[in-house]
Amino acid sequence: MRMYDIIRKKRDGCELSAEEIRFFIDGYVQDRIPDYQAAALCMAIYYRGMTDAETVAMTECMAQSGDTVDLSRFGALSVDKHSTGGVGDKTSLIICPIVASLGCKVAKMSGRGLGHTGGTVDKLESIPGYRVTMSQEAFMHQVEEIGIAVIGQSGNLTPADKKLYALRDVTATVDSIPLITSSIMSKKLAAGSRNIVLDVKVGSGAFMKTPQTATELARTMVNIGKQCGRNVSALITDMNRPLGRAIGNTLEVIEAVEVLTGKRRGDLYEVSVALATEMVTLVKGINDPEARSLVIDAIDSGAAFDKLKEWIAAQGGDIRYLQDTSRFETPSCITPVISPADGYITAMDTERIGSAAVLLGAGRSRKDEPIDYAAGIIVEQKTGDRVSAGEVLATLYSNDERAISPATERYLGAISFGDEPPESGKLILGVVG
Ligand code: URA
Repeated sequence: MRMYDIIRKKRDGCELSAEEIRFFIDGYVQDRIPDYQAAALCMAIYYRGMTDAETVAMTECMAQSGDTVDLSRFGALSVDKHSTGGVGDKTSLIICPIVASLGCKVAKMSGRGLGHTGGTVDKLESIPGYRVTMSQEAFMHQVEEIGIAVIGQSGNLTPADKKLYALRDVTATVDSIPLITSSIMSKKLAAGSRNIVLDVKVGSGAFMKTPQTATELARTMVNIGKQCGRNVSALITDMNRPLGRAIGNTLEVIEAVEVLTGKRRGDLYEVSVALATEMVTLVKGINDPEARSLVIDAIDSGAAFDKLKEWIAAQGGDIRYLQDTSRFETPSCITPVISPADGYITAMDTERIGSAAVLLGAGRSRKDEPIDYAAGIIVEQKTGDRVSAGEVLATLYSNDERAISPATERYLGAISFGDEPPESGKLILGVVG
């Protein structure tokens, strides 16, 4: 078999066999296939697409390219959740303890933030003492005992994806549905859960900018996940505005605690309840209203917040910060962003708002950059709100005084004002199951 022939076949719009796909993935991981040939194939896939059979083969080969986690001891109870990435998306911190308090088993490996989107591991590390690494035995034992453990992705999980994603990033081949599907679903397969709920974000702060492309991605990921033997469903949720009010690691942990202690409702609560309901529905095989009422009870009774504390304590985190969130460090600069105009907020460029938070120190623009856990933004007014000139639109948090002015400028550049209220968009645009 020759890589040249595989590239030519895909370039000409023909279907690759499972053997050809394995030849490519194995050869690329083992450095037998050079970057330039892999890049050429990615570009051919970008233009020609892949059939379901090709995408399944690619996903499975990538999942098998490194370590895999065996969660079979938890039978049908294991469940995972994946978000395609958003701004202010702290739903994992809320959902995972809810479903664990209802008997589901959450053995989760999460990522760090990169670019304008945050990552669960950074948020967890903002809780003093929390450990994001542990041995495989300790990880399994914790899931067995308390139903939940969340760690950073192991170094050797899906090395094929690590290498290919870095290549796609610099060759303009990230936004291809079969390549995104195989990248995300290979990591989920390797992580081992029987049930997987996907949160496909759509809008100005998401990868997928339109409901059509988000729906196509959701359908493809659900379909491929099922063909690979897992129970999968997806919600398509709005990312035309930040989710909740808080952006930034400590601020998001505090907001998650507020939801779990019944102090905060709104969009974050609604999306979290919907995702947790979907997870409970898959695991327990019950209908939606029944699962939703279990989820809401878990919040209202305090069981989910108790589970959050049990989980964080088991991984070394100091739960006094969760019991009294005023213990968290407040940064040296806390500065309001003032509205320059009267009118309605008609749109928010959410990616730009996420990048304003990165300027403040809440995220990284390079993989190895340190972050300021206390940095971030509290969004005071959102799309559809009527504001007056001089009113506070948002509050910026940072330990770097020099970041305030560029972040203010960027935040204001992300907000559109108008005289008429915009149409109110849906928070949950669809379910694919
Ligand atoms: N997230 C991933 O993990 N992979 C992609 O290809 C795109 C988003």
